[in-house]
Amino acid sequence: MQKSIKIRKFAVVAALSLLVIAGCGKKPAPSGKNDLKKTVTADSAAVTGKKVPFALKEGKRLFSHYCAVCHGETGDGSGQYYGLTPAPANFTDKAFMKTLSNEKLFKAIMEGSASVGKSNMCPPWGKSFHSEELEFIVTYIRTLAVN
Ligand code: HEC
Repeated sequence: MQKSIKIRKFAVVAALSLLVIAGCGKKPAPSGKNDLKKTVTADSAAVTGKKVPFALKEGKRLFSHYCAVCHGETGDGSGQYYGLTPAPANFTDKAFMKTLSNEKLFKAIMEGSASVGKSNMCPPWGKSFHSEELEFIVTYIRTLAVN
């Protein structure tokens, strides 16, 4: 366990060193703020193997923290509090998601499920997030419909 972490750490350090060495040959070291930002993005993409759009990453983080306890990690409504009546909305259900416009989705999240004519089991979240975070959450929820 310890050993494999050390090996992995070494691999990451080695990979990053190679990137730095390779980078030096091609262009001068980053100077301005923008250059630095580019370098960080490129490096993180190299380490994770793919670029994760920020909105989705942040949306997922917020959803896992605030919503998954009821709506489930995958958004299928099977969170820890799955015994609720009515059951938490199932965001993986395409047919259900089609009935929700973005406008309604925002309203339900900001003002609670009661504001869209449902029960009062989903609390209002409007004061917990700023508008950008709400957009991240909605963007993420929109990716969950699978069947
Ligand atoms: C305490 C449990 C609980 C938490 C936490 C919770 N929800 Fe809900 N949510 C529910 C329940 C239960 C429903 C179903 C309400 C109904 O159908 O009457 C629901 C329904 C919804 C709906 C569908 C409303 C509609 O029009 O049918 C949305 C959208 C929603 N929740 C978003 C969220 C988001 C986003 C979060 C996290 C920021 C969240 N919920 C956190 C319990 C919860």
